[in-house]
Amino acid sequence: MIVATEGRAKLHYEEHDEVFFNPRGRLARSMGVLAARAFSKMTLNDRLVIADAFTGIGARVVRYLLEDDDRISVVHANDSSMPALEFAIRNVRLNGVAEKVKFHCLEARRFFWRSVQANLFYDIIDIDVFGTPMQFIPFAVNALKHKGAIYVTSTDTAPLCGINRRAAFRNYGAVAENFEFCHETGARIVIAAVVKAVAQQAYIARPLFTLFDGYAFRIFVAVQKGRRGFPVDKFGFVVRCPSSGRVMVFKQKHAGRFSLDCKSDLQIAGPLWIGELHDAEFLNQMLDELNEDWFSERDRSKLKKTIKLMEAEVGMPPFFHDISALSDRLNINTPRKADLINELRRRGFKAGMTHFSGLGIKTDADFDTLADIAVSVVKGGR
Ligand SMILES: C[S@@+](CC[C@H](N)C(=O)[O-])C[C@H]1O[C@@H](n2cnc3c(N)ncnc32)[C@H](O)[C@@H]1O
Repeated sequence: MIVATEGRAKLHYEEHDEVFFNPRGRLARSMGVLAARAFSKMTLNDRLVIADAFTGIGARVVRYLLEDDDRISVVHANDSSMPALEFAIRNVRLNGVAEKVKFHCLEARRFFWRSVQANLFYDIIDIDVFGTPMQFIPFAVNALKHKGAIYVTSTDTAPLCGINRRAAFRNYGAVAENFEFCHETGARIVIAAVVKAVAQQAYIARPLFTLFDGYAFRIFVAVQKGRRGFPVDKFGFVVRCPSSGRVMVFKQKHAGRFSLDCKSDLQIAGPLWIGELHDAEFLNQMLDELNEDWFSERDRSKLKKTIKLMEAEVGMPPFFHDISALSDRLNINTPRKADLINELRRRGFKAGMTHFSGLGIKTDADFDTLADIAVSVVKGGR
C-alpha cells in the first residue's frame, strides 16, 4: 500500500494497471480546488454540485471536500474502473468526507447522459482523462447548469507541440508546430477546440485560467447557455518565419490574406485561441481565496507564484520568446531575464515573465526591437 499526503488529504493506493495516481498532478488539483472557491464567489453560489468524472483514487473529491467544504453541497465521483473507484471510496472514508459524496462506476459519457436523464445538473465538471478530453465535451456541456464551469485536462502535450501533428489535427482540428513556445500555442489550440465544441451545443465558453504544469494543459472555462456572442475574433493563427525569427498573429478571418516577408517556409499553428488565457478578475478572486485558512503552506506559496505569473500574461501577445533560443540566434550571451524585462519596460514596452517557461518572456515589442534590446543589454552589461 502506498500512502501519499497532499495538503490535508491522506491518500491510499496500490500499483495496479487500472489504479492511477500522479503526484505531479498536485498543482492542477490545488488550482481546481481554488478555482471552485473563486467560482462559488463569482456566481454567489455556496451550494456547488461538482462532478469529478474521472476520479481515479478520489484525490480531487477528497481535496474539494477538505478545502472547499463550506461551498460544496455534493460531489459526484465517477470512474469506469472499479479497482480505482474502490480506492476512491476508501480514501473518501479515510478523510471523513463520505457524507457529501455519491459514487458512480460508468463510462464518462454514460455518466453525463445518466445525469441529464435524472435531471441532475452540475455547477462544475472536472474532466481529467489521459490524452484528449474532446470526445467528452459535448456530453459534459449538456450536464452543466445554465451557468457552470468545466475544468479540462489535456495530456496531449507532444502532439500539441507538433511532435505528432496528425494526432493534434484529428483531436483538435488544428495544425500544431514545434515552436519554442509550443506549450502556449498548444494550450491555445485546446482552448479553441473546447470553445468551438461548447458552441456546437449552443453554449458560450470563456477561459478563466489556463495552466501548463509541465505535464498537461489544464483549462478552467466558464460555460453559459446561449448562441450569441460566439467570440469569432478570438480565433486565429500564430505564424513564424524561421529564418528571421519574426512571429505574427492573424485573426482567422484574415486567413489566406496575410503576407509575411520570409526567406524560408513559414511555420503555422492554429486555428488557436488568441484571446486572453485568463480572466484577470477571476485570478484576483483566486488570490483573495488564498488568504483563507484552507490551504497548506506549501500549496499556498506555489499557487501564489503561479497565479502571479498568470496575471503577468494578461494583455500580452499569444506567444513568448525563449531567451536562450534568442541569444543563440543573435550569437550573444543569454541576457538576465530581469535585465531584459526592465530594459524593455524602460523603453516603453510591456514585458513580463510567463508561467509556461522559466526561459520565456512576453513583450509587445516586435522581434527586431527585442533583438536590438537584448544585444544592448548583453553588450552594455545592464
Ligand atoms: C488521469 S486519471 C484521473 C486522475 C485523478 N483525477 C487525479 O487527479 O488523481 C484518469 C481516470 O479516468 C478513468 N477513465 C479513463 N477513461 C474513462 C472513461 N471513458 N470513463 C470514465 N472513466 C475513465 C481511469 O480509470 C482513470 O482512473
